[in-house]
Amino acid sequence: MFNPSEFIKEIEPQLIKFKDEKILAAISGGVDSTTAAVLMYKILGKNVIPVMIDTGFLRKNEANIVKNSLKDIIPIKIIDKSKEFISNLEGLEDAEEKRKKFRDLFYNTLSELIKEYKITYLVQGTIAADWIETQGGIKTQHNVLVQLGIDTEKTWGFKVIEPLADLYKNEVREVARYLGLPKEISERQPFPGPGLLVRIIGRVTKEKLEIEREANSIVEKYLDGKGYSQYFSAILESNKILDQTISADLGEKVFTYKNKATGVKGDVRSFGKIASIDSNCDYDKLRETVQKITKYDITHVLLKLKEKDQDLPYSIAIRAVITEDFMTADFAKIDKGILNKIADEIMDIPKVKEVLYDITSKPPATIEFE
Ligand code: XMP
Repeated sequence: MFNPSEFIKEIEPQLIKFKDEKILAAISGGVDSTTAAVLMYKILGKNVIPVMIDTGFLRKNEANIVKNSLKDIIPIKIIDKSKEFISNLEGLEDAEEKRKKFRDLFYNTLSELIKEYKITYLVQGTIAADWIETQGGIKTQHNVLVQLGIDTEKTWGFKVIEPLADLYKNEVREVARYLGLPKEISERQPFPGPGLLVRIIGRVTKEKLEIEREANSIVEKYLDGKGYSQYFSAILESNKILDQTISADLGEKVFTYKNKATGVKGDVRSFGKIASIDSNCDYDKLRETVQKITKYDITHVLLKLKEKDQDLPYSIAIRAVITEDFMTADFAKIDKGILNKIADEIMDIPKVKEVLYDITSKPPATIEFE
């Protein structure tokens, strides 16, 4: 049984040795990085400088929300680098290429700050699932460096401190509660470091980013506080074709999309097609259908909720999962009436052709699409 007070007792002596150093703490808005920053700040005080980089891929009003919810706990500086990040990532298509470019931009920004503030250490909220999945080659999580053999001091001029590297998400939440963080942070759903970037499937454009940001805020508005482990939207291009082979095999229409998405097979990464179906079956029956479809080269299966009979460029996928450790996850069986309400509101966003619900568990899908 994990005990947060014992964890802190154990880790404190290892952290206290940095008491004469200046330390930069990078906060992304998720529970891990915030907990790591607050833990360091509580132990070492003002030598810890918490910053949040606005990468342009944050959720709607994210920087202000995080700053306000932490205002009595740590003084966060927001560094606006959105223009630089967006212009460098625009046009990229490949999922891993996007992640690696984001990582470079992110750490180059931190490296500049570290030089400016004359700092030697960076604290970040890497947790066990991040480096296990990155080492396993499933996804290059932007914050996994040391575990990949990257010499951060040589590359960017700082050493990394990762106080939560051996913990799982549920344990991080226990630490957050123990440290007295407000509920809106300790119970906050995780948000990936590269943010909405990993939810823009295929080519990155400003238009897709803004539509995704809006759709995501609608999903969060309806699903906040409902007990799902993670819930969000993703945007993909609406071009789809009827897959003759799978449709014939299943005896119902199965469409596949131009954009692909990441999955996990055994313990390794797979990158396959996204499929969609239109069905009134209940979730148990749908689960069987998904099992059949994902035997083909398909990583995510989406259930159609709403579609316009017009030629429009984008599809929005809603994703909601239930999980303890984020290494495996089950899709959430959300009431179809609620899903349709969310879909109706998203359909009002210009250029959205259809709204779908992801009914794939992890494995064979991953939680994020990229
Ligand atoms: P996947 O998509 O691999 O996600 O099933 C598992 C958990 O990790 C989060 N995630 C990330 N977090 N940097 C992060 O800090 C990343 O690059 C990243 N990629 C995925 C994801 O949101 C989920 O909670």
